[in-house]
Amino acid sequence: DWTPDSFVETSIAALKEKLGDDKVVLGLSGGVDSSVAAVLLHHAIGKNLHCIFVDNGLLRKDEYQSVLDSYQHMGLNIKGVDAKQRFYDALAGLTDPEKKRKAIGRVFIEVFDDEAHRVEDVKWLGQGTIYPDVIESVSVKGPSATIKSHHNVGGLPDFMKLKVVEPLNTLFKDEVRRVGKALGIDPNILGRHPFPGPGLAIRILGEVTPQKVAILQEADAIYINNLRSAGVYDKVWQAGSIFLPVQSVGVMGDERTYENVICLRAVESLDGMTADWCHLPYDLLAKISNEIINNVKGINRVVYDISSKPPATIEWE
Ligand code: XMP
Repeated sequence: DWTPDSFVETSIAALKEKLGDDKVVLGLSGGVDSSVAAVLLHHAIGKNLHCIFVDNGLLRKDEYQSVLDSYQHMGLNIKGVDAKQRFYDALAGLTDPEKKRKAIGRVFIEVFDDEAHRVEDVKWLGQGTIYPDVIESVSVKGPSATIKSHHNVGGLPDFMKLKVVEPLNTLFKDEVRRVGKALGIDPNILGRHPFPGPGLAIRILGEVTPQKVAILQEADAIYINNLRSAGVYDKVWQAGSIFLPVQSVGVMGDERTYENVICLRAVESLDGMTADWCHLPYDLLAKISNEIINNVKGINRVVYDISSKPPATIEWE
């Protein structure tokens, strides 16, 4: 019978056997899958697992530092790389969603490849691929599409020539969470909502600038913290805020304002393929809206997205 504990025991033994004294490099995203894969590999090979966590400047507020801290706390051999400016430079002037995704994918590959080269004599690339990623190549927006388009222009980066080890590729998402729990991973990491690889860049419609990222991070933190304190966060499949490229008139004291709009999104879903918008309580929405408008400079209006997928998508880009 499959149990998380038996899975952990047999995989650690199998990974030890397969990897011996080889070194493995693995990119952590802060998400559930890469975290569980890393901890499993860490149990099998310890310091020979070299984790890389890239700050692309597109994560949620304070997320880079808090995730890095909790990985270090778990004893992982991890290197944090501040690449914010490289991502912002690559995004400057881009407005097309697919061009933005490609730019982010390209810079990620460059940064990761540089870091992987620093790990002497590395033999393997560890990945948090899970079973649904294996059976269907997720979505055309996914990282594999980015890697293919990169491949067409410049050939494979060196880390992609490594042998691949994917300890979770037989598991479904709920099983990954159970394995993570059996491994003692921080419940805050295991219960985290899905978050897209291109991060806040696809929640800022149009051109991404560091200023817009900062505004969105503030608004989004107010939103997510309120979902948590209202006990709603764990009941929602995914929630996030979107920075709309629209200005509207408002009034603050005696002053007329002309500022941007934040849209709040929360959906229920089983797998992200279809989704219904969540009927969040009006008093909660009211509290969040007031807090955002009163505290986030540059925002004078908040709206709530009441579209389901299909025909809308979860993300706006
Ligand atoms: P959509 O917007 O297509 O999103 O309804 C479905 C799920 O996929 C996530 N998503 C992405 N994840 N890279 C990712 O890693 C992407 O480019 C990307 N686009 C969408 C989205 O957050 C949702 O969970």
